[in-house]
Amino acid sequence: MIRSIPLLLAAAALIAISAQARADSKVSKSAARGLALAQSHCAACHGVTANSTSPNPESPTFEEIANLSGLSKFTLGNFLRDSHNYPAAMNFTIQRGQIRDLTAHILTLRRKDYRPEP
Ligand code: HEC
Repeated sequence: MIRSIPLLLAAAALIAISAQARADSKVSKSAARGLALAQSHCAACHGVTANSTSPNPESPTFEEIANLSGLSKFTLGNFLRDSHNYPAAMNFTIQRGQIRDLTAHILTLRRKDYRPEP
């Protein structure tokens, strides 16, 4: 009986790990859709991937946006939900699911060691 406890713990850990992996792959599918959307809808102005530059110099790169202090999926989601926030250049509406995907993608660009360009 006592000998089976470590085994049980190992089994529980494995189950936890695979649940986490499933959750991660769901997130990254959303982020992958977000990247595709960003490439088709945002990349004319914004750099949308890591280490990119924005074609339109007035637009921050998504990496810069992702690493703004205080930014979270909530603040970013709110920004994208309310088109009154947009600069005049960004004259469009985005569906809710697309906002989730874009936010998921942008947040993949967060880096603990990010330093803004001087
Ligand atoms: C026609 C050009 C253009 C396109 C297309 C565009 N943007 Fe922007 N965006 C801008 C400019 C310019 C700014 C900066 C405005 C400012 O700082 O006043 C900006 C700023 C932002 C910000 C910054 C918010 C902040 O707090 O500083 C976010 C987030 C953003 N854009 C998201 C997007 C997303 C997502 C898309 C695609 C769905 C997109 N933009 C497409 C021009 C564009």
